[in-house]
Amino acid sequence: MSESLKIVWDGSLDTGVKLVDVQHKYLIDIINELAEAIEQDKAASAIGEILNLLQYYTEWHFEREELCMNRYQCPVAAANEDAHGKFIETVKAYREEYRQGGGTREIALRIYQTLTNWLVKHIQGVDCQLGPCLPDNVREQGAF
Ligand SMILES: [Fe+2]
Repeated sequence: MSESLKIVWDGSLDTGVKLVDVQHKYLIDIINELAEAIEQDKAASAIGEILNLLQYYTEWHFEREELCMNRYQCPVAAANEDAHGKFIETVKAYREEYRQGGGTREIALRIYQTLTNWLVKHIQGVDCQLGPCLPDNVREQGAF
């Protein structure tokens, strides 16, 4: 068996904001569920449910993160919102493709690649800029 597709959370994904990191770890759990389904050859049947959960959870998480960036006037707030909007559109497009064509290993792999590339790049490029905008107590308790 080749190397696992699963993503392992490490310090390069640490935004310095506890609550955001907890939410990102859960997003990674969802992606890893997809990775596991692909590895066990169950992706075709699992993909629909994973896409539903992914859209539901990303929308909820993005909203929290956007509120926080706006409240603390983070300079990347607008860029973050824009990136989130585009990502949700991508997820919706996949759901539509799945609705029309059904689940296949091919679409599962494509979704997996898109998710991992986007999430890692987005966390490191945009979300990591949130921490310095927050007061210490908010950063540590995540009480936004
Ligand atoms: Fe973000």
